[in-house]
Amino acid sequence: MHTDPVDVNQARKDTPACEKIIHFNNAGASLMPLPVTQALHHYLETEARIGGYETADLHADSLNSLYSSAARLLNCQPEEIAFVENATRAWDMAFYAFNFKPGDKILTAIAEYGSNVIAYLQQAKRFGIEVVFIPDDEYGQVDTDALSKMIDSKVKLISISHIPTGGGLVNPAIEIGRIARQNNIPFLLDACQSAGQIPLDVESIGCDLLSITGRKYLRGPRGTGLLYIRNNILNQLDPPFLDQHAAELISPIEYKVREDARKFENWEQFFAGKYALGVAIDYALSWGLGPIQQRIYDLADKLRNQLSNCKDITVTDTGKEKCGIVTFYSRSLGANSIKKMLSQKNINVSISDGSGTLVSFQQRGLNELVRASVHYFNTEEEIETFVGCF
Ligand SMILES: Cc1ncc(COP(=O)(O)O)c(C=O)c1O
Repeated sequence: MHTDPVDVNQARKDTPACEKIIHFNNAGASLMPLPVTQALHHYLETEARIGGYETADLHADSLNSLYSSAARLLNCQPEEIAFVENATRAWDMAFYAFNFKPGDKILTAIAEYGSNVIAYLQQAKRFGIEVVFIPDDEYGQVDTDALSKMIDSKVKLISISHIPTGGGLVNPAIEIGRIARQNNIPFLLDACQSAGQIPLDVESIGCDLLSITGRKYLRGPRGTGLLYIRNNILNQLDPPFLDQHAAELISPIEYKVREDARKFENWEQFFAGKYALGVAIDYALSWGLGPIQQRIYDLADKLRNQLSNCKDITVTDTGKEKCGIVTFYSRSLGANSIKKMLSQKNINVSISDGSGTLVSFQQRGLNELVRASVHYFNTEEEIETFVGCF
């Protein structure tokens, strides 16, 4: 396990764009480090030179090593990993594999990701299931006491975003996992924003399914993602789609589904992205997720404190534990104007317009927020420059 602090100078050398821009949009898409862009270019260049299928043959071992890298990241087995094109589709493949019956309940968080809520509502319409939002506690995170009291025989899934898209909140995944395990209820964790930002150990969290995107805190390419499915529920879940990579056609009337998590994959994949995602995961592991988290939390803390001292700014992050996502609004300027003003100074942020965490935003009376999300390669000086804009 790594305990040395991140070597920020080296991290910035590996991220040449740092010389030109202040990238506070890591929760949108981070900057790929050189080893990742080099891997991507190398793979694409080889495809162009010798052919796509031939490149996959040539790089078969490296492509395969993505699964062991992901397994090291999550503390699971390579057979429990599927490569999928993004976090939403990874999550969908898991969620739509459940066979719900009328009256079944799904318990989710107030700050749940918008696309996930749409999927719950779609299945509610189809199967007559109930979607129940667990209230927040006084810190704005999932209230685990309330969750314990909501468990009954109708609850068929607990499904939560670990770090919601629209703020600094980190939901108490380990405590939620403990409740899920105690009651033998499957636990689906959307780890889209937490992967690459904080250590993730599926054993200590106790989740059965977990979805990840490549482009955010993991610093991989766009169009890449992962799904983890615990071995002991793999055979209970029937993927919503099957192709001849996920299953084998045996006769005109028979097919056999493969037994590992790759039954949730497509045959055709973004191979260059898969190759580079493996490099991105190894790169993150080489810094260590503990030191990465420490550095991100320290920077975000500084950013929050300094922004709170600006008289026009209200910081809106909730949660007992707060991560690298910092959200705020100005009383005099709209979020779009702020984004534009910052962009003219080569500072990247994004806007959380509510759609990503609609239930939470509506409950809290929020509309549009500026989202500044820091990574370990950002610096204290960049934070000062950023805050100096207000
Ligand atoms: C919490 C959360 N879940 C899921 C997603 C969707 O990820 P993707 O765009 O890779 O499908 C996001 C994206 O912002 C997110 O923040």
